Amino acid sequence: MAWTLYIFLMIWTVCRGEIAAKCSAAPNDRFDCAPEKVLNKEECEARGCCYISEDDGLATGQPACFFPPDYPNYKMIDFTETKFGYSANLIRTKHTFMPNDLMKLHMDVFFETPHRLRIIMKDTTQKRYEVPIETPKVNEKADPVQYDVQFTQESFSFSVSRKCNGNVLVNTNVAPFIFADQFIQMSTSLSSQYIYGLGEHLTSINLDLNWTKLTFWNRDLIPREDANLYGSHPFYLGFEKDGSAHGVFLLNSNAMDVILQPAPALTWRTIGGIVDMYFFMGPDPKTVIKQYQELIGFPFMPPYWALGFHLCRWGYNSSAMTREAVEKTMAAGIPLEVQWNDIDYMDAYRDFTYDPDRFGDLPEMVKEFHNKGMKYVAIMEPAIGLSSSPGSYPPYEDGLKRGVYVTNETGQPLMGKVWPGTTVFVDFTNPEAHKWWHDMFKAFHDKVPFDGAWIDMNEPANNVHGSLDGCPDNSLENPPYVPDVVGKELRDTTICASSYQNISSHYNLHNMYGLFEAIATHDALVKIRQKRPFVISRSNFPTLGRYAGHWTGDVDSTWKQLYYTIPAIVLCNMYGIPLVGADLCGFVGDASEELCVRWSQVGAFYPFMRNHNTKDAKSQEPYVFSKKSVDAIRKATLARYMLLPYMYTLFYKSHIFGETVVRAPFMEFPQDQNTWTVDRQFLWGEALLITPVVEQGKTAVTGYFPAGMWYSLVGGAGFESKGEWKTLPAALDTINLHIRGGYIIPAQEPAMTTTEMRKNGMKLLVALTKNGIAHGELYWDDGDSLDTYEKGDYTLITFSAQDNTLVSKVEKLEKEAENLKLNVVGLFGIADIPKEILINGAPALDFQYLQNEQHLKIQQLDLALGSEFEIKWSFSSASSSVKVEL
Ligand SMILES: *[C@@H]1O[C@H](CO)[C@@H](O)[C@H](O)[C@H]1NC(C)=O
Ligand SMILES: *[C@@H]1O[C@H](CO)[C@@H](O)[C@H](O)[C@H]1NC(C)=O
Ligand SMILES: *[C@@H]1O[C@H](CO)[C@@H](O)[C@H](O)[C@H]1NC(C)=O
Ligand SMILES: *[C@@H]1O[C@H](CO)[C@@H](O)[C@H](O)[C@H]1NC(C)=O
Repeated sequence: MAWTLYIFLMIWTVCRGEIAAKCSAAPNDRFDCAPEKVLNKEECEARGCCYISEDDGLATGQPACFFPPDYPNYKMIDFTETKFGYSANLIRTKHTFMPNDLMKLHMDVFFETPHRLRIIMKDTTQKRYEVPIETPKVNEKADPVQYDVQFTQESFSFSVSRKCNGNVLVNTNVAPFIFADQFIQMSTSLSSQYIYGLGEHLTSINLDLNWTKLTFWNRDLIPREDANLYGSHPFYLGFEKDGSAHGVFLLNSNAMDVILQPAPALTWRTIGGIVDMYFFMGPDPKTVIKQYQELIGFPFMPPYWALGFHLCRWGYNSSAMTREAVEKTMAAGIPLEVQWNDIDYMDAYRDFTYDPDRFGDLPEMVKEFHNKGMKYVAIMEPAIGLSSSPGSYPPYEDGLKRGVYVTNETGQPLMGKVWPGTTVFVDFTNPEAHKWWHDMFKAFHDKVPFDGAWIDMNEPANNVHGSLDGCPDNSLENPPYVPDVVGKELRDTTICASSYQNISSHYNLHNMYGLFEAIATHDALVKIRQKRPFVISRSNFPTLGRYAGHWTGDVDSTWKQLYYTIPAIVLCNMYGIPLVGADLCGFVGDASEELCVRWSQVGAFYPFMRNHNTKDAKSQEPYVFSKKSVDAIRKATLARYMLLPYMYTLFYKSHIFGETVVRAPFMEFPQDQNTWTVDRQFLWGEALLITPVVEQGKTAVTGYFPAGMWYSLVGGAGFESKGEWKTLPAALDTINLHIRGGYIIPAQEPAMTTTEMRKNGMKLLVALTKNGIAHGELYWDDGDSLDTYEKGDYTLITFSAQDNTLVSKVEKLEKEAENLKLNVVGLFGIADIPKEILINGAPALDFQYLQNEQHLKIQQLDLALGSEFEIKWSFSSASSSVKVEL
């Protein structure tokens, strides 16, 4: 008796000990074993997982049911070296809790380039859906490489590390890998608490790892935190503890959740497709971004006019109102480049029509704008209204004949409800739809010579859930796991997931709907206009930037949203969509005068600058405000225009090298950890730091200045920062702009349109380091022709300063630049008044020196930029290098 009790006690103690050990993961290291529903203790343990209740210390966000280390996982077999890397098979013998587990997978590991590793895992028996984006094909193993990849066999996992220092970028051994037909989950460690990306979400620049769930399912929604928004970018950039950076991209377009937890760790959870994962080794953020863009493709080169000021509102309900907005903006002295119309112009909200009464003279209006040197952009919708009677709406009928619409279970066009009432939805993956879209654009363009297209509502948005006929009850509509989408169902505010598109189900293609529309729109515009296309899309997915720009959607007119636009635009640049902006003054709700002034100042530095308002809000065009505010908006807008040659040069660098146009301080100064969370300031390229006010009632702003010389463009002395926070005056008419020592910015005298402005004299802003060095460049072409760089029809001039001498070097010259004149050179960091200034050997005629700003301005230069020049300055020996401290 005593003996048996002893044995029982022993077994009991040992087992309890085992369970405790098995379930002993620290809270931050627990991975959710019940992602699809809430389980109680018994149900969780029946799954073979560990359970902890609130009484036992479960905190908000943490999973109650979590994996033990011995949860059944794949086993790796048949591991072989191949000519491109490795391959292996993964087998599992026990099912997980998800239906339709794949019991056997094939894995290929590609050493694609020295800095890019790719890992693919897919079914061995059946072809599964793969994202229809072409990526570079690599057949041979790169050698040497910057990464090391290691595997564990029995319970499969892999880790990727940096070869030179052993930093582990990801390790999947933190949780079991699950690959079921409609549920793929892979968890990985992270190399630090600092990761960036995984948009489109309303977040700060670095993501919060405190049990954050980020959901990807493109959706029409007024942006808010914790919601899936218009775009999906399953890419992040991560820092390692030593400040090296890498990137990870899961090329998958299905509905997805990404969970971040403080371990630090990340879980990818997608409901379809395959695992196709890329690792980019950097080792610094800018290089990571380039490497990512090398894979997805570099951004398109926008026309020069795209960089001017755009004006729009929903509620310009006649051509007369539209004209009035143009006239009043110009009368207020605000340059206006592009006037837009929202859906108001359409006849009964149908694409390719205009209202005969309110917009009867739309073609004439557009021609008038063209005569003013302006451009015109119109909105287009992917939802097509029906014909009320035969022949009443030919575009719909033509599309029906050509079979271009998304279809439902019975093979008929799926019907939903959008602006025109009952609508069908164009399936842009159908090659015939691509042609049809062009034909409709062409016919409309023959009547209304618009210059660009705004493609909205292309998530696609639908006012009924799924379709007018509901959605079928099948596994695509009701998958075993539904990511945390707003509305809880995939069909919410869009079309049925199971509807049919030409190349796959909408379930697979939903997140790419807007991308395919952007490609069709881009191609149509190129063919019709034979000029650079201008397309702005709301829905977005990787590769969009090759075809279109983006605006951040229907943001509220609030201070909080104004702040969020800064991380939003810099992250979009990281995703390879540099032509991006948010609606100036916000879209939804009334913008106060102060908010609108501050937003216009920030917006003047978005790559895409458009003021856009909703129908029932108070007017917010620049001209509606007090003189003081109009002056402030004009000042910021003119500052942007002055700097456009620099921004255009940055666009060239994004198009040719995959660089960002605007960037976060961490991208430029990764070795300074203070920058890793700075998201109320941003840079244009390397050289211009923008420090706006994004809070109400402030007349000063605190910003971070990384180590180096910084010179204010709005007055005041330059200073040398050791890497410090500084508080600067920022009256309502001021946005602080600093040029970084070491850089030369090309600029130009502004005008009311960029067409006029491009004839004006140029300026160089030269910001010297303490050692008197600076460099910069200017890219120039006709601003509108296709493929100017590719055809060699461009000018490239580099500038450099050292030893009290500024010289230019004409790397390449074409005719557009022949008449460009350099009129002004502004030198920052000149410690004393020069004794002599020589321009190509002749004394300068006109110059000004500001001691306090250490600024020397040389004017009336009249130098042809096409010819190389030399500007030299010298000091009287007494005052040259030795400065007397007072
Ligand atoms: C994480 O979030 C929880 C719940 O919102 C909160 O109580 C906790 O303080 C947060 N932890 C950190 C480190 O911010
Ligand atoms: C156009 O808009 C104005 C001002 O928002 C409004 O007063 C007017 O009724 C609108 N006209 C039409 C035809 O909707
Ligand atoms: C498919 O759409 C058509 C309209 O085009 C509708 O009449 C039909 O009922 C729909 N079929 C299903 C199964 O919903
Ligand atoms: C895809 O579109 C092409 C061209 O319109 C058509 O020939 C083909 O049948 C379509 N395929 C499917 C599966 O709808």
